[in-house]
Order: sequence, then C-alpha cells, then structure tokens
Amino acid sequence: DKGNFRHFMAKEIHEQPEVLGHTLSRYLDLTQSKTVLPKGAEFDFASCERLVISACGTAYYAGLIGKYWFETIARLPVDIDIASEFRYREVPVKAGDLALFVSQSGETADTLASLRYCKAQGMKIGAVVNVPESTIAREADFVFPTIAGREIGVASTKAFVCQLAVLASLAVHAGRVRGTISDEREAELVRMLAEIPAYAVKALRHEVEVEQLAQPLSKSQHVLYLGRGTSFPLAMEGALKLKEISYIHAEGYAAGELKHGPIALIDETMPVVIVAPYDGVFEKTVSNMQEVAARGGRIILITDQRGAEESGLQAWKTIVLPDVPAFIAPIVHAIPVQLLAYHTAVFMGTDVDQPRNLAKSVTVE
Ligand code: F6R
Repeated sequence: DKGNFRHFMAKEIHEQPEVLGHTLSRYLDLTQSKTVLPKGAEFDFASCERLVISACGTAYYAGLIGKYWFETIARLPVDIDIASEFRYREVPVKAGDLALFVSQSGETADTLASLRYCKAQGMKIGAVVNVPESTIAREADFVFPTIAGREIGVASTKAFVCQLAVLASLAVHAGRVRGTISDEREAELVRMLAEIPAYAVKALRHEVEVEQLAQPLSKSQHVLYLGRGTSFPLAMEGALKLKEISYIHAEGYAAGELKHGPIALIDETMPVVIVAPYDGVFEKTVSNMQEVAARGGRIILITDQRGAEESGLQAWKTIVLPDVPAFIAPIVHAIPVQLLAYHTAVFMGTDVDQPRNLAKSVTVE
C-alpha cells in the first residue's frame, strides 16, 4: 500500500525517520548512554584484528561509509570490496576475524558466495540484513538486523540509511570494547545517534526545494557527483540512484580525484552535485568546488548552514540542511541525495519503482 504517496520509493524515503528510530532502538541503550548488541549477536570486537566487509550496490556504499567509522572510532582496519570481486579474489583472511555482509534482501548471490568463502576460511560471519529469514541471515553467526520494514521500491533508500545506522552503532560499540573511546565519548556519540530521526525529519523538509532541481537536471545527459571522506561513498550512491531510476548517466567521484581526470568533462552543460557537510575535509572539498566553478560547471551544493557560510562561493543551487555533527552527517545528507534522484525520475516519467532491466533482488550472478 502506497498510502498517500505516488510511488513506494517516495513512501519509503518518508518512512526513514521512523525506521531509523526502530533500528537504532535495537543498538542504543539511552538510559545508560551506551551501545548494545542485539541478542545472539554478541561478537567480541576486541578479539578482532581486522574487519572484512563485502556487499553489492547500495549496500556496498553503506559498507564503505562504515569503513570510515570503524577505522576512525574503533581503530579497526577494514578491508572492503564489492562481493562479485571479493568472492573470486582468493582474499587472505584470518580465522576468527569478523566478516560483515551487508544486504537488504539477504539473498544476493555474490554476497552469499563471499559469505561462504569467509566461513570456509574460519572467519566469524556477521550479517547486516533487513530480511531476518533470508539465506544470508540464516548462514551468519551474528545477525545485526536493520528494521527498515519491507522495501518494495527497487532503488534502495530506507534500507540504506538503516544499514548506516547499524554500522555507526557497531563502530561505537567496537570503539568502547577495544578501548579506543572513553565511556564519555561513547555517551556523546550515542546522543548523536539518538538524534538521527529528528535530523531526518528536518532533511525531508527540503523536498520542495530539491524537487525544483528536477526539471533542470532532467535536461542533462551526464551528472557528476563529488564528495570527500564519508561523502565520497554518498556521491557514488547519489550517482547510482540517479542512473538507475532516471537513466541519466551519472558518476560519483572522490573530490580529490577531480584533477586526475574527470575535470576534463566540466563545462557549462555539466551539473556537478557536491555533497559537503561541514566536516574535517570540508575546506578541501571547497577548493575542488572552486575548480569546478572556474570551468563553468553548474554546482548543486548539498551542505549545512555552517558549510553554506564558510564555502564563500555562489553555487548554482545550494541545499542547506541544518548543522549536524559530522559523525552522523552521511545519514542525514543521504536524504536530499535520494530526493534529487527521485524527483528527477518522476519529472522524466520513468517507472520509478520498477526501473527497466532491474530486479529487486539479484539472486543470480
Ligand atoms: C540500488 C540497489 C542495489 C542493491 C544491491 C544489493 O538502489 O538497490 O544496488 O543495493 O543489488 O542488494 P541487497 O542489499 O539486497 O544485497
């Protein structure tokens, strides 16, 4: 049932504050200001030297953002690869270390094959999954559920942000048990996590503004997405969302790679979506933005109030989200990125919930 929405995708985007709340409630103990692991998923992160993450598509981008969190907060090195490469690479892994598989459906063939490879190598298997009765959930030793509810739109939205919420919570938990963050720091990070649903509500209020970009964007044949740090995977996710539902060619790039090639593409016809919350790498992204502006690129800047003030640059369009702690910014900034793809596709009249050539669950290689 789509309720009052035109598409399941719109409904699912709007459900995000609620399902983020449901998901976070499984991982946060707000009375103690601590992270908790779900029952039966009490993996000892202190026993682990390295984390392996493998997934496909949007779930892979969630894993990439997770890598930043595990490495910075828990000082836990993360090896991550798309499952279709991972499974054939004969990756050397250590028995006893944790391998995490991120999957909405829990049925993706390549992700499952990667899981079985790691299991055969004696690794412990963790699964961040949305379907609890799925094959990946059943074969895992530790199930870290996302409580996104059934996702019907082929383009993943609410499952993605819930995957991020789980990975962020696990990174904080790992940080505490590994002794890389204090109890006070954990309490601070838990408070930030608990505020995600409220920030998601605020981000959704920018929908009309984002919708106004649909018409100009629909005229483009190519769109470039740029971001640094945790915004780099988000740039790739934005590009994936746009191409899969609007059929406009889009690419997500690390902002710092711009001058190593893609800058050659920039001219007055090229929209460049820059995802840049005010975080530790913001100034660096701004200098890439200046390079785009100098070549006439049409910049759509997705930032926050602080970022809008500090950028000192007139973008073609700027979406100004409320200031949000850098730690949770990727989850909040995902929302305008999803809305941009959604409204562009709606404007173009494509079949948003059932885009051509795509299946919700890729159970064949
Ligand atoms: C993109 C999308 C796909 C899936 C990918 C993995 O919007 O939905 O890229 O993320 O096929 O699917 P799951 O998460 O079911 O393993």
